[in-house]
Amino acid sequence: MKKPVPDEFAELSQALQEVYITSSELQERVAQIGRAISADYADKAPILIGALKGVMCFMADLVRAITIPVEVDFIAVSSYSTEERDRGVVRVIKDLDLPITDRHVIFVEDVIDTGLTLNYLLRSLRARSPASLEVCALLNKPTRRLMDIPIRYKGFDLPDYFVVGYGLDYAERYRNLPFIGILKPGVLFSRSQAGN
Ligand code: IMP
Ligand code: MG
Repeated sequence: MKKPVPDEFAELSQALQEVYITSSELQERVAQIGRAISADYADKAPILIGALKGVMCFMADLVRAITIPVEVDFIAVSSYSTEERDRGVVRVIKDLDLPITDRHVIFVEDVIDTGLTLNYLLRSLRARSPASLEVCALLNKPTRRLMDIPIRYKGFDLPDYFVVGYGLDYAERYRNLPFIGILKPGVLFSRSQAGN
């Protein structure tokens, strides 16, 4: 591996082909995004909305890198079946707690792959008439995009790899890795088994 696995995660990382983004690279980028949001949204008290569960680490670090008043809320959507995914449909399991009408909203996403999930969620948020709605995504896989989604804040562009760690799972595992790793191809069976 070009970037070494920290010793204490060696066992959990056996299914990884490579460490792709280290913990310190993640922290540095998240700090930059936090500074940008703090500057752009001064006096706007934005609401940050994340879709559980993949966004958990990014959201936790991002809010601590933002130095202006913010509110945080989460929405939970189900893993889609292949058919539902193709239709761009996701099931909302937990809706927002906070009203967003006339509020400045930043949708915080772990990874945008096809963009179908996010496109659906953005449509449903727009229907609630926020004052503004922007997207902040840690990871972006442009080669697989089916929907055109403007990303205001972006962490890293990724080729078409299935990645885990820093909140991202494969079949609910690996969310606790503090870095982003690429799964060995043999480990990956079907994308529809991956959680959100
Ligand atoms: P999309 O609808 O194809 O953009 O995929 C959306 C969701 O699938 C993301 O928010 C993730 O939860 C999940 N996902 C997509 N790519 C990956 C990956 O490489 N690792 C883990 N989860 C992923
Ligand atoms: Mg997600």
